[in-house]
Amino acid sequence: MSKTLIKAVHKTFKKQIGGQPFLVFSPGRINLIGEHTDYNDGFVFPAAINKGIALAIGKSESDKSKVYALDKNELYEFGLDSITPLKDGGWRNYILGVISEIQKLGLDVGNFNGVFSGNIPAGSGMSSSAALENSFVFAFNELFELGLSKSEMILISKKAEHNYAGVKCGIMDQYASMFGIKKSALLLDCRTLESQLFKIDFKDYKLMLINTNVKHDLSESAYNDRRSVCEDVSKKLNVKALRDASKNSLDGLRDEITEEDYQKALYVIEENERVQLFSEAILKDDINSLGKLLYQSHEGLSTKYKVSCAELDFLVDSAKENSTVLGARMMGGGFGGCTINLVLKSDFKRFKNDISAKFEKEFGKACSVYKVKLSNGTHIVK
Ligand code: GLA
Repeated sequence: MSKTLIKAVHKTFKKQIGGQPFLVFSPGRINLIGEHTDYNDGFVFPAAINKGIALAIGKSESDKSKVYALDKNELYEFGLDSITPLKDGGWRNYILGVISEIQKLGLDVGNFNGVFSGNIPAGSGMSSSAALENSFVFAFNELFELGLSKSEMILISKKAEHNYAGVKCGIMDQYASMFGIKKSALLLDCRTLESQLFKIDFKDYKLMLINTNVKHDLSESAYNDRRSVCEDVSKKLNVKALRDASKNSLDGLRDEITEEDYQKALYVIEENERVQLFSEAILKDDINSLGKLLYQSHEGLSTKYKVSCAELDFLVDSAKENSTVLGARMMGGGFGGCTINLVLKSDFKRFKNDISAKFEKEFGKACSVYKVKLSNGTHIVK
């Protein structure tokens, strides 16, 4: 959790609205491995982090609700009775989406005032959108006594993303943001929504995130396209989702689908296997295998699933030149955002400086480097 963020929203709420707000912190997430497997009913390995969204919120007697986005200095006032997605609504759509999905369940959200602020860099692939959705659904549940379980709340957040942001995402981001546990990652089965907790300690190594600071256009439509390719191939294979497919069964279909679609489906099947191998390697403290799996994951995302970009590939290729980096891969939806790297602690600084300089030389702009702490999921702040 970030105390600075909480203080900032608390102070602004008291100044602009008055009274004692209810405070919520909702984190972003990283993903160790298992990319684009969630909407294939497969496995993922995310963790909540110490960056996220802080929200100060209170009920309002007015017939309108107000949300103030502190970082953007934008205020949005609206009525609750005619909620629809806004064109170019940005952050507003995530909140409207959450309200609309709650209303669809026949539950009542009353008028409210809210102030939020975040420290997840936009477009970094650390899921600021899931953090925002979860902060509001969690706060509404408490404030208006909706009686929703955390599992119900994350489905609301996911539907908000589908119907109001237009991204047909899986459940990974919302799940990790809601259910994360300090110093741990969650091996999540996206079909059953059951997860297994893994204490994370990479011994002499630690995670480094490197943000390309780019988010290429079309990333949303490309995301939805990938999802529909997976669904088409599943249908042709006569299985519910690619999670149920094997390389053998996919090979049987090779002549009936395009080479591009074959490669994409193959990536999903292989990545799903890698998540299992990764969790086994953690249990065996086999850090070298973890690194290899990260590199393999990136190779698949870049050459088969085709969701990488020049900046991400450059960072991963440069990481490979360092024997103190065991593995690296792009993280999240792709087409920009961060790579996740497993780096020797004693070489962290040198590697950071080296790769930053190389990136700047290659692209004429800076990348950003972050350390993250694995943290608890969405919670009330007292
Ligand atoms: C985005 C989506 C997730 C997941 C990842 C890729 O973050 O929101 O559901 O599909 O991309 O693994």
